[in-house]
Amino acid sequence: MENINFKKEITTVWSFPERGDWATHNGKYRGNFAPQVPRNIILRYSKENDIVLDPMVGSGTTLVEAKLLNRRGIGFDINPDAIDITKRNLNFGANFSGKCKFEPDAKIGDIRNLKEIDDNSIDLIITHPPYLNIIKYSNGNIEGDLSNISGVKKFLNELEKGVSELFRVLKNNRYCAILIGDTRKSGHYVPLAFYVMQLFLKNGFILKEDIIKVQHNCKSTPYWESQVEKYNFYLIMHEHLFVFRKPDIDEDVSKVRYSTWQGNIW
Ligand SMILES: C[S@@+](CC[C@H](N)C(=O)[O-])C[C@H]1O[C@@H](n2cnc3c(N)ncnc32)[C@H](O)[C@@H]1O
Repeated sequence: MENINFKKEITTVWSFPERGDWATHNGKYRGNFAPQVPRNIILRYSKENDIVLDPMVGSGTTLVEAKLLNRRGIGFDINPDAIDITKRNLNFGANFSGKCKFEPDAKIGDIRNLKEIDDNSIDLIITHPPYLNIIKYSNGNIEGDLSNISGVKKFLNELEKGVSELFRVLKNNRYCAILIGDTRKSGHYVPLAFYVMQLFLKNGFILKEDIIKVQHNCKSTPYWESQVEKYNFYLIMHEHLFVFRKPDIDEDVSKVRYSTWQGNIW
């Protein structure tokens, strides 16, 4: 196997100025994972032979890592082009694939209806939704593409259907990681990531980690740099990587989380 330049993270701030470029990894698919993200999550929260699901797989970064790390990868994306790209990216050279035990399965599918997946059958979920319509992954012609939704309320309503599916398919006491960023409305901060976090809590997940991922090489940055002084705001240069756990069947969750004075669960 070729040398992979990688160090396991041990804190809640992750920054990858040099994105990994081993196997077929590259930054061509807009907004895709640096491979260090799924690699860290897979290594910490799963073991060899486990089933790893990414229900919004994009260019397949999670599945490439699942394959390299001998996990059974399953990926869906609503966009057929993404599935074609994923399949190409899974076809890497003999230096890497020689020792891989499992060939991942990548198919067209919708996070809001994971009908092919049995209840309580997945060992680890890693996913990365569109951040509203900041990057559009299709031009409005694919029904169900969340990247075509501009309103926060509608986006969260649709994403919540997916969150309840993730809860259904994940095994008890296993983990689900989601990378999500925030946005602005007329210069004011919209904490999209915290809204998404609340959807997971509402649907039964427990928060295990909130990891800040520093952003690098954003294509939009040169434009926004010129806007900072003009409109008097800070550039958003971080995302949240939330790691949730599905509780065990008889678990007393009050031992690991608080109820707030409003009765909300945090
Ligand atoms: C941020 S990208 C994922 C990038 C991925 N992590 C990677 O490394 O390439 C979000 C993906 O969600 C997909 N998507 C949007 N709506 C979806 C839905 N309802 N179900 C499944 N995938 C969806 C888009 O087509 C896009 O590929």
